[in-house]
Amino acid sequence: MKDFDLNELISLCKRRGFIFQDSEIYGGINGFWDYGPLGVELKRNIREHWWREVVTKRADVVGMDSSIIHHPRTWEASGHLESFTDPMVDCKECKRRFKADDIENNEKCPECGGELTEAREFNLMFKTNVGASVDSASVAFLRPETAQAIFMNFKTVQETARQKVPFGIAQIGKSFRNEINPRNFIFRSREFEQMEMEYFIHPSEREKWFDYWLEQRVDWYTKIGIKRDNLKLREHEKDELSHYSSRTVDIEYYFPFGWQELEGIADRGDFDLSQHIEFSSKDMQYFDPFTQEKYIPYVIETSAGLDRTLLTVLADAYDEEELEKESRTLLRLSPVIAPVQVAVFPLHKKLKENAVKLEEDIRSSGFRTFYDDRGAIGRLYRRQDEAGTPYCITFDFDSLEDNAVTVRDRDTMEQERINITQIIDYLTKLFI
Ligand code: GAP
Repeated sequence: MKDFDLNELISLCKRRGFIFQDSEIYGGINGFWDYGPLGVELKRNIREHWWREVVTKRADVVGMDSSIIHHPRTWEASGHLESFTDPMVDCKECKRRFKADDIENNEKCPECGGELTEAREFNLMFKTNVGASVDSASVAFLRPETAQAIFMNFKTVQETARQKVPFGIAQIGKSFRNEINPRNFIFRSREFEQMEMEYFIHPSEREKWFDYWLEQRVDWYTKIGIKRDNLKLREHEKDELSHYSSRTVDIEYYFPFGWQELEGIADRGDFDLSQHIEFSSKDMQYFDPFTQEKYIPYVIETSAGLDRTLLTVLADAYDEEELEKESRTLLRLSPVIAPVQVAVFPLHKKLKENAVKLEEDIRSSGFRTFYDDRGAIGRLYRRQDEAGTPYCITFDFDSLEDNAVTVRDRDTMEQERINITQIIDYLTKLFI
């Protein structure tokens, strides 16, 4: 495990075009972030990897993509209108607002030391109005979790996808929470993406599936390159469980600001389906054609944040290394998700045409590539180290003679001479 200053990572993200403060030209807006060219690629690669592992590769999980705004009754049924709150306190002096749980000494304002108000409950859902009139009948909410659409569509999806219990429904999409204190970069923001999967099971199998999914999810983080030692499991105490959960285990990561939740695995029992059955008066029970049993399935939920996973990937990959004559900062991103897999440079501008052609050939073979010739070779390497690019290829004057190029490994900085006719095979083997 390594400790580093989160601000170093934040400035690298800005410098290299991963993540910027939203609306920066107007001074920014707290809790909202924009992804630049490298950030959006990294995010897509993580999202697609999750979808491939959780949905595409499995016969027992199907996907869906719902609206962000649902009928307001959804949130009455789900319990979010009543229970999706955080205790909030105000400073009587500087007027700043805090999540009561974040105040360590429980009494004084962490900013100015002033006196704090009593804690009061604050609902985290963003309110909006649907249609032209702004009255209580038009009030709706931006979803605070993607899960509810899965529960509401459970029966339709199960029937149309011809699934039998046990099976899962997955969804990736934006969620919104009016967090009292967004902080730690993209760790806690007000607009973020979730990757959720609800696995519907027979009530007698809740322990088995809970353990199964917990293991699957920890494995997934290691597949995208996160070190297992930086992950740990934390079982929720009874008094911290969400209103819908009878058991939750968090997968936590060792961030620069300490151990924090990365994903939650929850046993939601039949809470959500029962509530929607009650509030909608629609029968959403499952009929088992083999046992002839009719019942409300229980649900094991895996709920991960895409932005939080991306922060984890960056934090885990971030490294500073002292070399003989200089130091370098690098992102040791897994080749599986790195935004750029191969960068190509000419050693001299006179070799530009050859290097561009090589980059085009590699790109058309399906690799994520980048061409650069603005700077000396050492600077080009450093730039790609910070972008997390696993391999750099240099076309030099010898290449004109021997038809070979130098491939440089980001992590070891070792260089190997490879014949251009072999380069696609060589890279393919590296990225398997
Ligand atoms: N459906 C269950 C659910 O939403 P949660 O623990 O509230 O559970 C699940 O959220 C995941 O969503 C978290 O583990 C985290 O990765 C992500 N998440 C939650 N709030 C977030 C926020 N304000 N900013 C970024 N990610 C957030």
